[in-house]
Order: sequence, then structure tokens, then C-alpha cells
Amino acid sequence: MKIAITGSDGQLGRALVQTLGGQHIILSLPRREFDITDRANIAKLAALGPEIVIQCAAMTNVDGAARDPLAAFRVNAFGTQNIALACQKCDAAFLYISSNEVFDGKKDAPYLEHDPVNPINAYGKSKLAGEWYTQQLLDKFYIVRTAWLYDRGGGKFPDKILEIARRQPALSVVRDELGSPTFVPDLANAIAQLIQTQHYGRYHLVNAGSCSRYEWAVEILHMANVPRPVKPITLAEYNRASTPPPNGALENLAAATMLDIKLRPWQEALQAFFAQ
Ligand SMILES: NC(=O)c1ccc[n+]([C@@H]2O[C@H](COP(=O)([O-])OP(=O)(O)OC[C@H]3O[C@@H](n4cnc5c(N)ncnc54)[C@H](OP(=O)(O)O)[C@@H]3O)[C@@H](O)[C@H]2O)c1
Repeated sequence: MKIAITGSDGQLGRALVQTLGGQHIILSLPRREFDITDRANIAKLAALGPEIVIQCAAMTNVDGAARDPLAAFRVNAFGTQNIALACQKCDAAFLYISSNEVFDGKKDAPYLEHDPVNPINAYGKSKLAGEWYTQQLLDKFYIVRTAWLYDRGGGKFPDKILEIARRQPALSVVRDELGSPTFVPDLANAIAQLIQTQHYGRYHLVNAGSCSRYEWAVEILHMANVPRPVKPITLAEYNRASTPPPNGALENLAAATMLDIKLRPWQEALQAFFAQ
């Protein structure tokens, strides 16, 4: 397949270029060459004639989105509209990466694909608007919601915890925010399987299981063999610009049931991260 990947310099974009590169023709579109908010890029992308476009480009700074919601909407909503219009023009399928933050986090179990959405912060609202444009403008689309991504060298939560542990004798980590830690290479593999199916629709692709930030940090320190006391604190005690959904855990029901696309438990994935 001829596959265009926007935001190909980002964490997931890089992994997808690597995972899909052997078997497909990849049109790699990093931000410096291809800004999704530029309307001139609609025709440019359509002219490249991709069979599918995978949109990894996004404003992913959740706290930055809280401070500047318009910037988040510009990229995550209207940028997505541009890419969906390009897909319309060249009859390409579209895979939009969305987020667990489209939910309000009040459910007491992991969210399923058909659960009602109700974002509580600017980032979640902008990502949901991207979903909306995708569904309004296209017939052939996958919406893939994921959560708590990390990869080697990505500077995300595991790297941050280890960095703090190097500097401090003890850590304080939030215990009442739940999510599904997801190893980016596992997500890239699942996406590679999904795009072969043409079984369009909405999917939750995350490593299996869920945990709190606190439990994740304890497991990271344990696996990295960096013993440090970790104090559980509440979301209210942790000062940040954005309010995350208290329960942001997702369950992969649709892809596992219908397509047999399953991701391993998050603890096994974390082990693989350290084994690398
Ligand atoms: N990271 C997570 O925990 C997480 C969780 C749930 C869902 N997601 C979703 O997963 C997808 C991939 O995330 P990621 O972790 O790979 O994020 P990332 O590393 O921040 O990658 C996003 C990429 O998009 C680029 N970008 C930003 N604005 C752009 C624009 N206007 N035009 C073109 N490219 C632009 C960024 O460039 P710059 O670096 O130069 O800004 C970056 O290369 C996103 O849709 C995100 O919303 C992520």
C-alpha cells in the first residue's frame, strides 16, 4: 500500500515509518515539510495519491492546550479537517489517532469504543473535534483511540520517573488518575494489522490492563532496579494546567473481538521497553 504518515517525526510517526516501511511505500510527512494547518497542503497531499493517510500530527502538549485552547483546535481539529478533505479528494482511507481524553473519566471501569464521550479539558475537546471532522467528511476511516504512550528515547512518563529518581531520594506520584500505559511499538504493530482489514470504525488500541500513575511509577522503578520510596498523592495535590480524566483507562473490545488484534498486558510491554 502507499501510506502517507503526517507528523512522521513524532513518537508514533517514527515507529510507524519503521514498522510499515518494509512492506509498504511510505510517504513520510514530518512537520517541517508538511504543516497540517496549511490549507495548501490539502491539494499537495491528494496529488501524492496515498491509499491511506495515517495522522500522527497533533498538538500533544496537554497543559499547553489548556493554556492555549485555540492552538490545540487549530492543529487537532482544523488540521484534521484539512487531512480528511485531502483524503476525500483522492479517495484515500484515513486513520485518525485519537485519545482517551475524549472521556470525562467518571466511569468506574475501562472505557469501551461505544461509551459516550464528554471531554473535560481543551486537549480532549480538540481531539474529539478531530474525530467529528473525520466522521463527517469521510466514509473510509479508522478512529484509533490510545493512551499514555511511551517509547525508548521518547522522554515520556517512564523516562521522566527515572530522571526524577536520579535527582531525588523519593518521589510523589498521583494515585487517583488511571490509564492504560501503551508501548508505542505495540501500537504501531496493531495499526499495521488494522489497516490491512478495511474494517473501518472506531477502535481502542492500548496495552491490556490499566493502572494508576502511582502503580506505573512503582513498576518502572522496580523493573529499572532503582529502589526509591514513592508517596501516593492525589490529582488535587499535583499542580498542572490541564485536568485529566480521573479514569482514562481504555479497553480494546472491538479490535480484539472482531479482528483478533490484541496487545499484550502493559507490564509485559514495560519489560520489553527495558529489555531494549
Ligand atoms: N503521547 C500520548 O501519551 C498520547 C496519548 C493518547 C493519544 N495520543 C495521540 O497519538 C498521536 C501521536 O502522538 P505522539 O505521542 O507521537 O506525539 P508527538 O511525539 O508529540 O508527535 C506529534 C507530532 O506532530 C507534529 N505536529 C505538531 N503540530 C503539527 C502541525 N501543525 N503540522 C504537522 N505536524 C505537527 C509534532 O511536531 P513538533 O514536535 O515539532 O511539535 C510531532 O512531530 C497524536 O494524535 C496524539 O494526540 C498520544
